[in-house]
Amino acid sequence: MKPSVVLITGASRGIGEALALALLGRGDCVVGLSRGVSEQTIAHEQFKAVNVDLSSLAEVEMAMHRLFETLTPDAISGITLVNNAAALAPLAPIEACASSDIAAHLHVGTAAPVLLTSLFLQKTADWPVPRTVATLTSGLAGIPAASMSLYCASKAFLNMFTRCVREEQRLSPRPARVIAIDPGMAETDMQAYARSRQGESFPVGTLLQQAHDAGQVLAPRDVAERIVRLLDEHGADDRAVLKV
Ligand SMILES: NC(=O)c1ccc[n+]([C@@H]2O[C@H](COP(=O)([O-])OP(=O)(O)OC[C@H]3O[C@@H](n4cnc5c(N)ncnc54)[C@H](OP(=O)(O)O)[C@@H]3O)[C@@H](O)[C@H]2O)c1
Repeated sequence: MKPSVVLITGASRGIGEALALALLGRGDCVVGLSRGVSEQTIAHEQFKAVNVDLSSLAEVEMAMHRLFETLTPDAISGITLVNNAAALAPLAPIEACASSDIAAHLHVGTAAPVLLTSLFLQKTADWPVPRTVATLTSGLAGIPAASMSLYCASKAFLNMFTRCVREEQRLSPRPARVIAIDPGMAETDMQAYARSRQGESFPVGTLLQQAHDAGQVLAPRDVAERIVRLLDEHGADDRAVLKV
């Protein structure tokens, strides 16, 4: 049987790494796009690491062109892009954020997934296999939070971006499945970093600590399994944003 190919940004740790391992475990080929690499995934022969800093759009474009020189539709059963990578920093009121940190956040959180989605759909437009774009979002897309304006607004942007691209794909002769996935709370570096920043200007930190203490934060492996189930549902999605 031909394998499915899954491109995952930020497969070096957290949810992305757990998702890569879950997909590799069932025989998919995984391409991880990030700056670092996970020892566990790199040991797998069906894993390919692409070193890219998503805060540089030039690097993103170059990486995708190079990657697609090595991919053809003949030997695969489907192809998926998972826009997973994101950063929390800077966690501060917007007037306290440095311009370089604002730019890096927006590049990784919005511009990179947009460019990756564009290039992915362009390069696979004629491929006669199922194509999926799944973008990791957050419940915070709909909750205004102090010191998280860039993160919340980026996730809200991604939700609307997903909805618009779905409309475009409806008009396409060979539509791709386009969804956003809210993973809920997972115990990752991102969660730990948010908890470590509790304080008056960041009330969400206290709420995350309470959720952690109440055992509501799931292991990345459990979240990854739920994401795999959502990716496997090939029926018509009546909603753009799916929750694990
Ligand atoms: N954890 C949660 O509770 C939670 C809740 C809601 C939504 N989410 C969403 O789920 C997704 C994964 O979150 P996570 O908690 O797994 O995050 P994480 O543990 O902090 O991992 C982030 C990943 O993004 C990559 N990344 C960050 N900046 C990058 C850059 N400049 N270039 C390339 N890669 C970069 C990192 O790779 P390198 O550092 O190696 O480059 C890493 O693999 C994110 O979209 C997040 O917003 C998470």
